[in-house]
Amino acid sequence: MTQYSEKRSILVTSALPYANAPLHLGHILEHTQTDIWVRFQKLTGNDCVYVCADDAHGTPIMLKAEELKITPEELIGQVFEDHKKTFKEYRISHDNFHTTHSEENRELSESIYNSIDSKGLIEKKLINQLFDTSREMFLSDRYVKGQCPECGAIDQYGDNCEKCSATYSAIDLQNPISVLTGTEPIIKESEHMFFKLSDLKDQIIDWLDRSNIQEPVRNKLNEWLDGELKDWDISRDAPYFGFKIPGYEDKYFYVWLDAPIGYLASHLNYLKQTNQESLFEDYWKPDSTSEVFHFIGKDIMYFHTLFFPVMLANANLKTPDGVFVHGFLTLNGEKMSKSRGNFISAEDYIKNLDPDYLRYFFASKLGTGVDDIDLNLEDFKQKNNSDLVNKYANIASRSAKFINKNFDGRLSSHLDTPELYEEFKEAAKDIANLYERLEFSKASREIMSLADKANQYVDSKQPWILIKENGNEDLVQSICTTSVNLFRVLTIMLMPIIPGFTKNALEFLNDEELSWQDIDSPLLDCNVEDFKAIITRIDDSQINKLLEN
Ligand code: MSP
Ligand code: ZN
Repeated sequence: MTQYSEKRSILVTSALPYANAPLHLGHILEHTQTDIWVRFQKLTGNDCVYVCADDAHGTPIMLKAEELKITPEELIGQVFEDHKKTFKEYRISHDNFHTTHSEENRELSESIYNSIDSKGLIEKKLINQLFDTSREMFLSDRYVKGQCPECGAIDQYGDNCEKCSATYSAIDLQNPISVLTGTEPIIKESEHMFFKLSDLKDQIIDWLDRSNIQEPVRNKLNEWLDGELKDWDISRDAPYFGFKIPGYEDKYFYVWLDAPIGYLASHLNYLKQTNQESLFEDYWKPDSTSEVFHFIGKDIMYFHTLFFPVMLANANLKTPDGVFVHGFLTLNGEKMSKSRGNFISAEDYIKNLDPDYLRYFFASKLGTGVDDIDLNLEDFKQKNNSDLVNKYANIASRSAKFINKNFDGRLSSHLDTPELYEEFKEAAKDIANLYERLEFSKASREIMSLADKANQYVDSKQPWILIKENGNEDLVQSICTTSVNLFRVLTIMLMPIIPGFTKNALEFLNDEELSWQDIDSPLLDCNVEDFKAIITRIDDSQINKLLEN
């Protein structure tokens, strides 16, 4: 990625959560990673827009609405409000949160489909699928169970066997049963549309070569590309909740066709809302100088790196500049699972604790790897208490007291130790680099080592002893002015990670609109406000409550 010497135009997305359930902490991990990067880009002055949406189509949403005896539109409407509220509570700074069930998305999906069709990249094929006659519906793999055709294990889903790992086609299952009705499905033929991915291998490789992709992800993709690429089935038969394919009454786009197009639709909707609609075409033209980055979990790499870029390219649109993949969140070392009680919903957490603790914890774990990230609650408590409370906030609380009490809130006109301030300024360049490269764990470690230095500085100067002797006032004031300024630099550095806690700090500093460049010049000869606690310590009772629900 380029450095931020020139103002960049960047569009950033997180994966679109399905509109059939509340958000969990895994979603929050993804949005936190994205949000930190976005906030950093904005802080350094880049023109960065962060969009997301609910992914509102597909069979599970249709069936969930049926179960609740409401329409799919009602269901996705309710979930939309809930998701929006939750993201806001976690201080996720989406510039727009839209839905894939929107006119923008319908139009874009149709037009992209028409473009790839006119290039001869859509092929119609007759395929056999299991069909539930009592429900009058084709069954996708997760809605049928039966005996594995390889080892005979019972109760296996339509795509692979959990016992022997065999993969197969659902029509080969023995004694298949519809999960929806318990009846035995028949095999039925239907025409489907396929996107001819097998013709596009060179284009995919070409895209990969010029994109920002982590090494382990690149390796996985190369593995896929070494094998034969299968054409991608992009149609589904009615009944389905989604967009009809142009020219058909009973065929719909598969949800994964219109979902990533939802990124563009949300961007377009944002531009409309901000009266900049005319910028859309320019933004998305193939040789555009704007940048697009997607943040996703490792389970949906295939869609974002194999299908989506070549779909865009063949619709004469700009392809993504990077796809950043993260691992899965586990809880106390185990997979998160509602049924096994190892689960914290986004709502349950927020009832007990400030989101910035979680944001800081995630940052301290996030790098460019794709390994899973464990939320160990003891570790979570320790990390926040020792880093944010004992190191970061401590610097302010111990110096503010003197400035407030002895100097009427006035900072001195000079720093006692400008070399130390210079050292922080120098370090800010490395930290900016780490943020840019998504090395948040390294960035937070560097920031905490600077916090250690600031605390050691106050320890060595002992202002609480100096102040007892007459004639030391100027010295104490400039020492405390130095440490308040070191605290201010740390605050700017931490703003992308903990926007709530740093907001409290900025109130004390009387300095609300800060940018990364403000690190260059210290606050001198001005007043600060009365100091109020910025971050409170996490205690065991708060931790215990998290798992009670
Ligand atoms: N709707 C699709 C994405 C469409 S993007 C065009 C989807 N939705 S999801 O709700 O299942 O997942 C949304 C994102 O959350 C994905 O990036 C997924 O990897 C991520 N996560 C889901 N569970 C997760 C964890 N336990 N941990 C971290 N991220 C996880 O997939
Ligand atoms: Zn088997």
